[in-house]
Amino acid sequence: MSIPEAQQQRLKELFPEVFTEGGKVDWDRLRLTLGEQVDVGKERFGMNWPGKADCFKTIQQPSIATLAPAREESIDFDTTQNLFIEGDNLEVLKLLQKSYLGKIKMIYIDPPYNTGNDFIYPDNYSENLQTYLEYTGQVDGEGRKFNTNAETDGRFHSKWMNMMYPRLFLSKNLMKEDGLVFISINDGEVNNLRMICNEIFGEECFVTALIWKSRQNVDSRAQSGVSIDHEYIVIYCKSISRLKGKEIDKNKYSNPDNDTRGPWMSNNMLGLATRAQRPNLHYDLTDPETGIMYSCPESSGWRYSKEAMDQKIKDKRIIFPKKIDGRPREKIFLNELSSTQTNFSSLLDEDLVGHTLNGTREVRDILGENIFSFPKPVSLLKVLVEQGSAEDDIVLDFFAGSSTIAHAVIKLNLENQQRRRFICVQLPEPIETGQSSNKDFKTISDVSKERIRRVIAHVRKEQNEKQTEAKKTLFGTDLKDIDLGFKVFKLNQSNFNLWKTDTEKSAESIIKQLELNISHISRDASQEAILFELLLKSGFELTTLVSKEAIAGKSVFSVAEGELFVCLEKELTLELIKGIAEKRPSRVICLDQGFQNNDQLKTNAVQIMKSKGVIKFQTV
Ligand SMILES: C[S@@+](CC[C@H](N)C(=O)[O-])C[C@H]1O[C@@H](n2cnc3c(N)ncnc32)[C@H](O)[C@@H]1O
Repeated sequence: MSIPEAQQQRLKELFPEVFTEGGKVDWDRLRLTLGEQVDVGKERFGMNWPGKADCFKTIQQPSIATLAPAREESIDFDTTQNLFIEGDNLEVLKLLQKSYLGKIKMIYIDPPYNTGNDFIYPDNYSENLQTYLEYTGQVDGEGRKFNTNAETDGRFHSKWMNMMYPRLFLSKNLMKEDGLVFISINDGEVNNLRMICNEIFGEECFVTALIWKSRQNVDSRAQSGVSIDHEYIVIYCKSISRLKGKEIDKNKYSNPDNDTRGPWMSNNMLGLATRAQRPNLHYDLTDPETGIMYSCPESSGWRYSKEAMDQKIKDKRIIFPKKIDGRPREKIFLNELSSTQTNFSSLLDEDLVGHTLNGTREVRDILGENIFSFPKPVSLLKVLVEQGSAEDDIVLDFFAGSSTIAHAVIKLNLENQQRRRFICVQLPEPIETGQSSNKDFKTISDVSKERIRRVIAHVRKEQNEKQTEAKKTLFGTDLKDIDLGFKVFKLNQSNFNLWKTDTEKSAESIIKQLELNISHISRDASQEAILFELLLKSGFELTTLVSKEAIAGKSVFSVAEGELFVCLEKELTLELIKGIAEKRPSRVICLDQGFQNNDQLKTNAVQIMKSKGVIKFQTV
């Protein structure tokens, strides 16, 4: 289902009565249905900018691309649940719409801040893939250069918003209902970002803008006399959500008097109301053992009524001071807390999350050089990932840069023995010649993949060492099976040839098109590439378990433990069809050319599949 079709479907579920016989929306009926809710006034609150209308065309234009597997660049390709996707994130987000709809718990992005030096990827809604192929040199072999977005450009902010809007719009579809999106940004575009997000997510879904002290030392070069030391992390939720919060400090609880109710901490019992406001909360409190009376301040009174306080005294929950001028406090027992979480401050603790400098050092330590500017510190992203996701959740970063998010997810999984999964998307943005001493680093995605590989290698080494050490002891290790792999995919042209409507109408070019479409599957396409394209089109995740089986002497792919069978053989036989049907999958996909124009075999295949309960039998 295309993106506009999916939107129409949602509208149809809500207002079936506004659809005409031909399946189109009857605008007047929709207005009538909504009645008073339609704003007919000419002036409305909202945000507009040049190019906004094209954003919707960009969103609705379906992708004609695919994601090609790159097994040789991956680790544990067949088993890992982690993904690295190389490509323009707009196309990638479109391609993920079906398979990952409503499945992502947390999105973190750190987009270009639009500083005047940033490269802003030029979206062209009608031929976005073509733009990408030109950019990566897959079309003319050289790679077309695109300029950075300069502040002097008349559409400086608009260009940035045109880049962000469709991406955020599409990413929202991927989020779970309780999903959260975290966006790093600075003062330059924070207002525009929040306006865009208010429109896409709704103002009520704004959670907060965390403040991160990114700069450790004061910037004495700043002309304004102010060193801007902070950035924001703007957070929105899809519908209902809250951050995890912070674990309380259990060290504050102890049990000096061996209370049978366990560790406790003392808490102030003053209230918030004056005597005039709450007279029942103003009284003198008497220590039953000493008879000393303690009064409360006139401005606050006590927190509890006299009756509630008497009960607490009876329960031995009140601690009376030794001195007459002291103030009674209450015992709060750790075991009686309804939650051990407390709220998380919107001012991030710099000692915990680190500064930009820490991120720079981390990348340098891993890759041996300063090859990537301003990566985020792992400690910062670890805190955010912990707040926004839990065990087994998927965390997506579609402006991955050096893949700090992958590093943070691996580290957090290791510390907490969890299995969060990451999806990184990164453009193969070229690295200037001479910028790196590593000749393998041609693009930022090369850097990013290598970082993940080195982090994994490092963790594996450490795990092995731990295991060797543990074997020497009596107890062994309790190391859980952490996912230390990642699967690489690259944005590419579809393996299925499309009839090009925009080519010349000359006889020569039409003959060429016809030849190309004799077999509509690209000649160079590998079986694995076709398989993954079909998985994406059928709505399966790219990390779905796939195994190869031999049936009637041919090979068949069993997807998701036999839910779907994909057969890419070019010569199908009746035995093979029967063999697949016997496995009783829900769905089967075969190549149309596999029937080799044998219509009888095809008709039989349809009947056989039906008789064995196959719900969907498709040929492509
Ligand atoms: C600020 S960096 C992210 C840094 C990252 N958080 C880290 O810690 O390394 C933004 C990244 O987004 C990438 N980018 C820009 N436009 C993109 C696009 N259209 N698709 C995918 N990536 C893109 C840039 O190449 C850049 O590496």
